[in-house]
Formats: sequence, C-alpha cells, structure tokens
Amino acid sequence: MTLPPAHPLVDGRTAQSHLVRALRGDRPERPPVWFMRQAGRSLPEYRALRAGGDMLQACLTPELASEITLQPVRRHGVDAGIFFSDIVVPVLLAGLPIRIEPGRGPVLDEPIRTASDVLRLRPLDPAALEPIREAVAMTVAELGSTPLIGFGGAPFTLAAYLVEGGPSKDQQRARAMMHADPRSWAVLLNWCADVTGQFVRAQVEAGASAAQLFDSWVGSLSAVDYQRRVAPHTKRALDHLRGLEVPRIHFGLGTDRILPQIAALGVDAVGIDWRIPLDEASATLGDALPLQGNIDPALLTAPWPVLGAHVDDVLRRGRRAPAHIVNLGHGVPPETDPDVLTRLVQYIHAGETTPTRT
Ligand code: CP3
Repeated sequence: MTLPPAHPLVDGRTAQSHLVRALRGDRPERPPVWFMRQAGRSLPEYRALRAGGDMLQACLTPELASEITLQPVRRHGVDAGIFFSDIVVPVLLAGLPIRIEPGRGPVLDEPIRTASDVLRLRPLDPAALEPIREAVAMTVAELGSTPLIGFGGAPFTLAAYLVEGGPSKDQQRARAMMHADPRSWAVLLNWCADVTGQFVRAQVEAGASAAQLFDSWVGSLSAVDYQRRVAPHTKRALDHLRGLEVPRIHFGLGTDRILPQIAALGVDAVGIDWRIPLDEASATLGDALPLQGNIDPALLTAPWPVLGAHVDDVLRRGRRAPAHIVNLGHGVPPETDPDVLTRLVQYIHAGETTPTRT
C-alpha cells in the first residue's frame, strides 16, 4: 500500500516543507527546527489542559491529543509538530495494564520476565488504534503546511520497560533475559516491534509526514549485543512502514559505538544526543545521512550568550552533514522556560551565527 492521495506528503501540503526537504538530504535556506518533548509540561497551557487528568487517557482522547500537539507549534513557530502520545500507548492498546506515574514514567505492576509471560502476549488489534488515527487526522487538518512527525518506541526501549516493570538505571533485568533466555527475548522483541510498528504506521497513514523511532535506553548495550539481539527487531519495526514513502528518523541516547549499525537499519536521518559533536557523528557515518540534534538540554537554563554560543557551535558542526534538522540532544526538561524555546526558534530561523547577539 502507498500513501493515500489526500496525504499531506502527496497532495502538496508538506513535501516542500523545510523538515521534509532536510530529511530527504536537501539544505533549505534555513535549517528546520523542532524539539523532542516540545508538547508537555514546560507549557502552562498544557498543564492547564491536563490538570487532574490521566496522561494515557489524554493520549486516547483525540481532541485533547490534537490540541496538545498543536500548542507548541502555535507558541514557538517550530517547523514540525510531534504527535502527543507516548511510546507505551500501543502496549496499553494491546491489553497490558501499563500506566504512567507522574514524575516517574511508565509502570507495569506485573512485569514480563518469564517464557510463559512472553507467551501470554496478544497481538494488537488494528481497530484499537482508531483514537490515534482520529487524533492525527484532526491534527494534520489544522497544521496545514507544517508537517506532523509520528513516532514510536524502538523495541529495546519498550521491552526494557516491560521487563523491568518501570524506569531503570541500566536495564539489568532486560539484559539478563536477553542472554539467559534468548528465545523468549526474541519473541518479546518481535512483539514490541509489531505493536510499535503498527502504532507508527497508523500515524503515517492518517497523515504524519515523517516518523521517528525513540531508542532511549539503547546506550546500555554493547555493540555486539545490539547487532545480534536488538537491531534485527528495530528493523522489523521499521519494516511496518514498507511501501509508505515517508522519511524515517532514528533517535537514541548513548549511541556513539553503534552509529554505523543504526545507519545500516536503512533510516533516512539519525538523531544524535548532546554527547557526540555533530561533525564527528557525520564523519563516522561517512557524511552520508542527514543528522538531527543536538543542543544540550542542560543549557536551556544558561544565560542567553552561553546558550547562543552553544547553538552556533551546533549549527557550525551540523554543516558537515548532508542536511541538518536542529533539535535538542534529548527532550525538553519540564522546568524549561518556554520563552527560551521561542527565542531559540527565532534565532535559528534568522540564520545568523553571531554569538554576541543578545
Ligand atoms: O512532545 C513530544 O515529544 C510528544 C510526546 C511524547 C511524550 N513521550 C509525552 C509524554 C513523546 C515523543 C514521548 C516519548 C517517550 N516516552 C520516550 C522516548 C523519548 C525520551 O524521552 O527518551 C520515553 C522513554 C517515554 C516514556 C515516558 N513517558 C517517560 C520516561 C515519561 C516521563 C515521566 C515523568 O513524568 O517525568 C513519560 C510521561 C510523558 N510522556 C509525559 C509527556 C508529556 C509527562 C507526563 C505528564 O505530563 O503527566
């Protein structure tokens, strides 16, 4: 199946947007900019809308998810919306009782740790994704020529939450299962690849103009384990987008040792965390792929001249890559002053790199 004729990438709305052009390897007049976690707790209008409500319930209420997605686009003038949802939404829709504890993250009271736990996993019924399709369709109708990015969690990061039962420092239980019971591990990762792949595909079919996989915990793996026990499943998740001509971004934290393996997944662009200078990342990849990143989120609270100089450095290093999508090196911290983000967008759009600007 290809994209429907009314899709924003096909009917002319977003194909020439700065984001889509950059993801396809072009360098528009100015680089596109958006922020991971731009929709969320740094915005007072988000907190007002969410007050008292459950996070995952908000994700499954199309009007709410759509409005929260649009908030940062209106406020900051970023070059893309990222769909308001969570990596664990398809897990919930597949029937596992996962929830999000404020300030902590996803929690599963009965973690998936044994072969019989894995065998009890059921496939995700595509009909359950209807609220997601509806929210995306509502959102792209409002966004016009601004592209929407759909996303999902990469299988390893998703599996880490399911095996650990919540956030963990170094994913020890997940890594233990990977080695102690590689068969169950493979079944679990395939399940994660399929639910996340279906989730992302539903967003793209409903109108998202790009797709990003988040592999937030992949930095805890050795390169050998990544290659053997994880990368084939990430590829399986990406394969769910087969036939859809949509640019695909991979973002991970702590990926310096596995960047070539990430490129080998066949993605169109690679998101880089704040630890790897973009010119070094580009050199590692043979200067062959557009890069996304990598302003250090910690510097969002620094005085403007310090932040501005850092942004100039990121932009300068980003010129080595075939194309550059400006972003943070990880998500917006909740305590960020939203005005700083707006100012950053204006600064990057102005296209100047004079660290003395105040
Ligand atoms: O603005 C956007 O980026 C779109 C929405 C989005 C959310 N989560 C909303 C959210 C996206 C893309 C995610 C991805 C996500 N979720 C990742 C990968 C990216 C990353 O940050 O590493 C991961 C690991 C998760 C799992 C998760 N969900 C965590 C760790 C948390 C934070 C817990 C906390 O409260 O600190 C969540 C909850 C969550 N997801 C919030 C938001 C806005 C905050 C919950 C709230 O507002 O009550």
